[in-house]
Amino acid sequence: MSGGGDDRPGAPPRLAVIIGSTREGRAGEAVAGWVAALARRRGDLEVDVVDLAEFDLPARYLCAVPPAVAAFTGRVDRADAFVIVTPEYNHSFPASLKQAIDYAYDEWRAKPVGFVAYGHGSEGMYAIEHLRAVCTELHMATVRGRVALDLLAHPVDRASGADGAGPPAGGARPEQDATAMLDQLVWWGTALREARARRPYVS
Ligand SMILES: Cc1cc2nc3c(=O)[nH]c(=O)nc-3n(C[C@H](O)[C@H](O)[C@H](O)COP(=O)(O)O)c2cc1C
Repeated sequence: MSGGGDDRPGAPPRLAVIIGSTREGRAGEAVAGWVAALARRRGDLEVDVVDLAEFDLPARYLCAVPPAVAAFTGRVDRADAFVIVTPEYNHSFPASLKQAIDYAYDEWRAKPVGFVAYGHGSEGMYAIEHLRAVCTELHMATVRGRVALDLLAHPVDRASGADGAGPPAGGARPEQDATAMLDQLVWWGTALREARARRPYVS
């Protein structure tokens, strides 16, 4: 059901939390685990953590769609809203994430997305702004709320992994920012799911 409609009226929107870094020893898993735990605790979102490292996405575009690509785009298709968790690499987001984004198209359309970015020394704002442009091209609705973490000031416990609920150190601001972003994703995720069910999205 690409760009699909409301197959579960009244149910909480499905939120896919995408781990954008596939780097060995990455912080991304723990950052995503934190925001996913926060989203689950609310009770108004159904949360699916989509770890790009679990999909063997090919570096080259192939004529036949490999099972890994179909598995990834299927997870995107099922979601009503997204949080993209991304590090900043050289003033942008990582190649692993761009490659994955480019493997889907219709599956992203008319759905909201929020960003959780982090860096070492920066808060990942370049990564967020570059992603906003890419997601707009894909007909997504980027929400204003975002989380931006300088991991030097807000270290995460990398050992906690994707299931970890430990917040980044350094005060309440990351949680307040994440809550505002998730509030917006619930609103847009519900509204756009209903809208997609009422009429097909324009091309
Ligand atoms: C290739 C590369 C480029 C980086 N560029 C930046 C940068 O431009 N700004 C920044 O604040 N941190 C930069 N960093 C630091 C990363 O944001 C930091 O290592 C972060 O933990 C990476 O995310 P990951 O551990 O989930 O892969 C860079 C790291 C790598 C590996």
